[in-house]
Amino acid sequence: MRLPLTYVVAVLSYASCVRSSFSSQCLAFNPQNSIFNATLTVREYVTAGTNILFPDNDASCGRPSQAVSVDLCRIALHVPTSNRSSITMELWLPETWQGRRVLASGNGGIDGCIEYENLAYGTQHGFATVAANNGHNGTGGHDFLNNPDVIIDYAWRSLHTSISQTKSLASKFYGNTYQKSYYIGCSLGGRQGIGAADRFPSDFDGIIAGSPAVDFNHLYAWRASFYPITGKSTSANFINASLWSTIHTEVLRQCDTLDGVQDGIIEDSSLCHFRPEALLCSNGTTANCLSPAQVDIVNNIYSPFYGSDGKLIFPAMQPGNELLAASGLYSGMPWPLSQDWYRYVLLNQSDWDQATFDLADAMLADEINPSNIRTWPTTLEPFSSRGGKILTFHGGQDQQITSYNSPRLYNHLASGRDASSTQLDEFYRFFRISGMGHCEGGPGAWAFGQLGGSPAVGVPYEPSSNALAAIVDWVEKDEAPETMTGTKFVNDDPTMGISFQRNHCRYPRRNTYTGGNASNPDNWQCKYV
Ligand SMILES: *[C@@H]1O[C@H](CO)[C@@H](O)[C@H](O)[C@H]1NC(C)=O
Ligand SMILES: *[C@@H]1O[C@H](CO)[C@@H](O)[C@H](O)[C@H]1NC(C)=O
Ligand SMILES: *[C@@H]1O[C@H](CO)[C@@H](O)[C@H](O)[C@H]1NC(C)=O
Ligand SMILES: *[C@@H]1O[C@H](CO)[C@@H](O)[C@H](O)[C@H]1NC(C)=O
Ligand SMILES: *[C@@H]1O[C@H](CO)[C@@H](O)[C@H](O)[C@H]1NC(C)=O
Ligand SMILES: *[C@@H]1O[C@H](CO)[C@@H](O)[C@H](O)[C@H]1NC(C)=O
Ligand SMILES: *[C@@H]1O[C@H](CO)[C@@H](O)[C@H](O)[C@H]1NC(C)=O
Repeated sequence: MRLPLTYVVAVLSYASCVRSSFSSQCLAFNPQNSIFNATLTVREYVTAGTNILFPDNDASCGRPSQAVSVDLCRIALHVPTSNRSSITMELWLPETWQGRRVLASGNGGIDGCIEYENLAYGTQHGFATVAANNGHNGTGGHDFLNNPDVIIDYAWRSLHTSISQTKSLASKFYGNTYQKSYYIGCSLGGRQGIGAADRFPSDFDGIIAGSPAVDFNHLYAWRASFYPITGKSTSANFINASLWSTIHTEVLRQCDTLDGVQDGIIEDSSLCHFRPEALLCSNGTTANCLSPAQVDIVNNIYSPFYGSDGKLIFPAMQPGNELLAASGLYSGMPWPLSQDWYRYVLLNQSDWDQATFDLADAMLADEINPSNIRTWPTTLEPFSSRGGKILTFHGGQDQQITSYNSPRLYNHLASGRDASSTQLDEFYRFFRISGMGHCEGGPGAWAFGQLGGSPAVGVPYEPSSNALAAIVDWVEKDEAPETMTGTKFVNDDPTMGISFQRNHCRYPRRNTYTGGNASNPDNWQCKYV
C-alpha cells in the first residue's frame, strides 16, 4: 500500500521537529549555573547509534569510546569538592525519560574511571544516568598522596555529590521532579552502594551492590598478603600458571560433583574442603605435582586471614577460581591496588615494597580507616525503614574478593538487626552466582544485567533475568526477586545462542540439583540445606 505523500511528509516533519526540539533543549541547558563553581566541559546532543569517543579520558581506564543506543543529551561537568579536589561527572539524559528515574553508577578498584558502559545501559532503559570519576583520573593511587580531600571524594563524596546534583538537574531538565533513585556498581562499586545506604540513607531507593569490597581496610590487607605467601615469580617454590591449572583440575576432581553435576562449576564452594596434599610429589616425580612447601602455600591461600590477636581479618579465598587468580593475586607480583593504597594513602611512602607486608600493616589499615572507608554496617536501619532495597550478589569463583565475605556481611546484618533471613530479605537480598568470577565472566551462568557492557547484552530486560529490571520492580511494585536467572552464552557470545541458564538462589538457600538435564534451570531447586 502506498501512503499519501502528505501523510509521509507530516510524519517526517513531526519526527524532525521532536528531534530538533530535544536537541535544542539539550543545547540550551546550563547545569553549571546551579552548581557552585562548576564548569561545563561537554554539552552535546547524541543520537542513537553514535559511538562516542573520549580522547581526554585517562588511557589506564581502558574506555576510549562508548556506543549508545538511544537519543540523549550528554553533559559533563567539572565540580570542585574542596579547594584542592574536584570530580568530573557525566550526566546522560535520555530523550525518553521512563518512570522519572535517576541512576548513578559506581567505580572499581582504587580507580577514578567513569563507567561509560553503565551510562549507556541506564539511558538505554530510560534512566537519567550519572557516573563520576570518583575524584581522580585513572586506575592508580598517586593522587591520594598527601591529599585527604581526594580520599574523601573516593570514599563517598564523589558519589554523594553526583547523585545529589543529578536529582536536581534531571528534575530541572525535564521540568518534572524525579521519582525514584537507583544505584548500580560492582566491586568497589558494590562497596559504594552499601556505603551510600549506610551514610546517606535517602540517596537511593534501590541499590545493586555486586561483589562488594566491604570491610575495605581488611580487604586491602588481605589482598596485600598474597604476594608474601606466593613469593616472587622467580622464587624456588613459586606456583606458576600451569601448575595452578593442575591444581584447578584436582579441585574439580575433589569438589565438582558435590552438587551432583560434573560441569566445571562448584555450585557452593563452601562445601569444598580441598586437600592439596593429594598432589604431593612422590616416587621422584617433579612434574604436575606439589612440593611440601607448595602444599603449604596452597593451604595458606585457602585459609582465613587472622591477626596476631587471633581475630579474623578476612575470610579464606574459596577454591575453584585458580585459572582466573593465577594471573592476578597468585601471580607472584605485587597486587597493584593494595600496593598503591599502602603507598599513597596509609604509609605515605612511594617506594614501599609489598614483599614486606606483615600483620602490623594489616592492623594499620583499620586503625587509619581513611574517611571511614571501612563499610561494615550493622543494621542499615535508616535506609531500610524508609523503604530502600538492596540487591547484592557475589560470584562463586571470584578471584579478587573472596565470595565468603558476602555471606559474612549478610550474617553480620542479620545479627545486627536480630533478623531472620526472611526478615532481612524484606530489604536485603543476596544472590550467590555459581561459577562467576569477579563481577562477571567464568564458566557459570553469569550474565543477568548486573552491570552495563557484556553482563547486559542479550539478556532480556525482565525482573527474573535482569538485575536492573528486578530492583525497579522491587522498589516500585514491591515485587521482590525470588531468584536471579543467569545466562551462559556459547563462548560468552550472545549471537551464538544460549549454552545454559541457572536460577541463582538467594542466600542462605543453596541451589540443589534434582535430576534430569542440568542445563535446564527447572532441574534445580533453592533449598535450605
Ligand atoms: C580528569 O580528566 C578530565 C578530562 O577527562 C579533566 O577535565 C579533569 O580535570 C581531570 N581531573 C583531575 C582531577 O585531574
Ligand atoms: C570558586 O571560584 C572562585 C573564583 O574562581 C575561587 O576563588 C574559589 O577558590 C573557588 N572555590 C572552590 C571551592 O573551588
Ligand atoms: C583550603 O580549605 C581549608 C579548609 O577546608 C583551609 O584550611 C585551607 O587554608 C584552604 N587552602 C587554600 C589554599 O585556600
Ligand atoms: C611451571 O612449573 C613447572 C614445575 O613446577 C615447570 O615444569 C614448568 O616448566 C613451568 N612452566 C612454565 C611455563 O614456566
Ligand atoms: C610409587 O612407586 C611404587 C613402586 O613402583 C608404587 O607401588 C606406588 O604406588 C607409587 N606411589 C605413587 C603415589 O605413585
Ligand atoms: C599518611 O597520610 C594520611 C593523610 O593523607 C594519614 O591519615 C596517615 O596517618 C599517614 N600515615 C602515616 C603512617 O603517617
Ligand atoms: C540439555 O538441555 C540443553 C538446553 O536445553 C540442550 O541443549 C542439551 O542438548 C540437553 N542435553 C541433553 C543430554 O539432553
